[in-house]
Amino acid sequence: MREIFIKHLNEHLPYIESFHPFFNEALQAMLKAGGKHFRAQLLLGVVNCKTPQLISNALDAALALEFIHTYSLIHDDLPAMDNADFRRGAPTLHKSYDETAAILVGDALNTEAFLLLSNLNLKEKIKINLIRTLAYNAGINGMIIGQAIDCYFEDKKLKLDELKFLHIHKTARLIAASLKMGCEICELNEKESEKIYNIGLKLGLIFQINDDIIDATMSEEQSGKPTNHDTHKNSFVNLLGLQEAINYKNDLIQDCKNDLIDLDENISKMIENLITQYL
Ligand code: IPE
Ligand code: IPE
Ligand code: MG
Ligand code: MG
Ligand code: MG
Repeated sequence: MREIFIKHLNEHLPYIESFHPFFNEALQAMLKAGGKHFRAQLLLGVVNCKTPQLISNALDAALALEFIHTYSLIHDDLPAMDNADFRRGAPTLHKSYDETAAILVGDALNTEAFLLLSNLNLKEKIKINLIRTLAYNAGINGMIIGQAIDCYFEDKKLKLDELKFLHIHKTARLIAASLKMGCEICELNEKESEKIYNIGLKLGLIFQINDDIIDATMSEEQSGKPTNHDTHKNSFVNLLGLQEAINYKNDLIQDCKNDLIDLDENISKMIENLITQYL
């Protein structure tokens, strides 16, 4: 699925005809720089398991997820937020270009994502569901409040429950939404879709704990972004210590795998493979 998605991404990079000297280059730079495409793989993974004949119709929905995620990273790296110079092994946009470009490219990818969803070759009802799910989970009910809390509480230590709230909102809800959007494209029933969304929340929490561990254990070359950068942040490593954070992650992986047992066998295998590969 990843190769199919990367080909689609490279053939559908955003582009705007104008006389701006470098806007298109900036618009495309972070999308071209790589990344794991974890969220796109989740959506396409569900569709491939349940309604593989809809894969080509679903590619732009996966692209919308990658646009939203990439916008969140571009803004996350700005001096006003995490102030990071590298991303996906390349200089961040505000370094290669300027802050204006980074803010506007983020804004552009955010809005383009919803344009893509509105233009999908799927039933109108499905498209409304996809737009609602993405807006809910990437917006104030998800990533935005997570990012707001992350930044506001730098240097102020949160309790474990508060840190979980932060990670679930800033990262897990978009990851859970990726699975749910796959379910919506395949028109799975509400009950199954909800079960998969809830597994996605656990998966997303594991993903962010793993990201905190990457910050503490990897080099900039390995991770493609600055590491040892979370020292003043609320991270699982800072709250629990490295070994306890690793144990916490492994317990959650076990918990998640137990939940996968009573899911569709193919979806369960697809999620397990992504856990093995990335977490
Ligand atoms: C990084 O996301 C930010 C988090 C939400 C943890 P990814 O680890 O998915 O970044 P890319 O897309 O692979 O670069
Ligand atoms: C960012 O979390 C989560 C987003 C919603 C963008 P981090 O700040 O930990 O992500 P990295 O480590 O910079 O990729
Ligand atoms: Mg951040
Ligand atoms: Mg960051
Ligand atoms: Mg991080």
